[in-house]
Amino acid sequence: MSGLLSGKIAVITGGGGAMGGAQSSLFASEDASVCVADVNLEKAEDRSNLIIKNGGKALPYQLDVRDESEWAQLVKKVENEFGPINILCNNAGANFRVSFEEQTLEMWNQIIEVGLTGSFLGIKAVVPSMKKAGNGVILNMGSLASIRPGGGSPGYAAQKMGMLGINRSAAASFAKYNIRSVIISPGHVDTPFLRENNPHSPNGWDTSIDNPENFNKRKDGTPLGRLMVPDDLAQAFLFAASGNASMITGSMITVDGGAAL
Ligand SMILES: NC(=O)c1ccc[n+]([C@@H]2O[C@H](COP(=O)([O-])OP(=O)(O)OC[C@H]3O[C@@H](n4cnc5c(N)ncnc54)[C@H](O)[C@@H]3O)[C@@H](O)[C@H]2O)c1
Repeated sequence: MSGLLSGKIAVITGGGGAMGGAQSSLFASEDASVCVADVNLEKAEDRSNLIIKNGGKALPYQLDVRDESEWAQLVKKVENEFGPINILCNNAGANFRVSFEEQTLEMWNQIIEVGLTGSFLGIKAVVPSMKKAGNGVILNMGSLASIRPGGGSPGYAAQKMGMLGINRSAAASFAKYNIRSVIISPGHVDTPFLRENNPHSPNGWDTSIDNPENFNKRKDGTPLGRLMVPDDLAQAFLFAASGNASMITGSMITVDGGAAL
């Protein structure tokens, strides 16, 4: 541990998931106190228990990022347990990998509400706490779809392009309070989001990377020659959250093994 986040308090949405979980563990290992927030409480508790077992500070919290009143309660709870919040990671996301014609309004709404509205509500809820702290960093989860959305899921294209807008809007609005906002865009990361048949990200054999054809397509589309693992991204989140990135705001950091080239 180098204590890069000593004394910092972080809220990590999708913290029970693969990338949010890796961020939670890495941030805690750098001495941050971490609220592991996820709609799936069991997964948030598993991650928190792991962190605590390793000597870190963690608080599991059941949060549906779409619910404004849950956000208000989360902020109160974190402030009581740890103090004012310094870092927010907006990871929670959803996708339905179907074509424009096949995407229903219900699918579209879920993608936009979890990814885009959830991030908007999170920023609104947490910024007053960051103002109390006198500093803050908002980290937003982008995607290759924030760079070159193609002919797949239209909701995902709109959500991940929309994150660019929220990120820049937050950066411009809150710089005067010493609050930065950065979007980090991964390429293909080996996580349940691409493998499993989750309610927030359903996959069948036609889309899952359990199917070697899909796995190899993503691997071959990555010039550095492998799918990424969640820790590849967590390292970039740590850098962006730390004082080493103190003059970086409004920008995007791409971590994709060259996939967007
Ligand atoms: N895996 C990839 O290749 C990849 C690439 C680019 C971007 N992303 C993005 O990364 C983010 C995290 O994905 P991951 O790969 O770690 O997948 P994951 O499925 O492991 O994690 C997603 C987490 O979000 C939680 N979640 C879903 N809906 C929620 C809600 N309404 N409120 C709170 N939490 C909710 C889930 O319970 C899950 O724990 C998503 O925004 C996704 O779009 C993933």
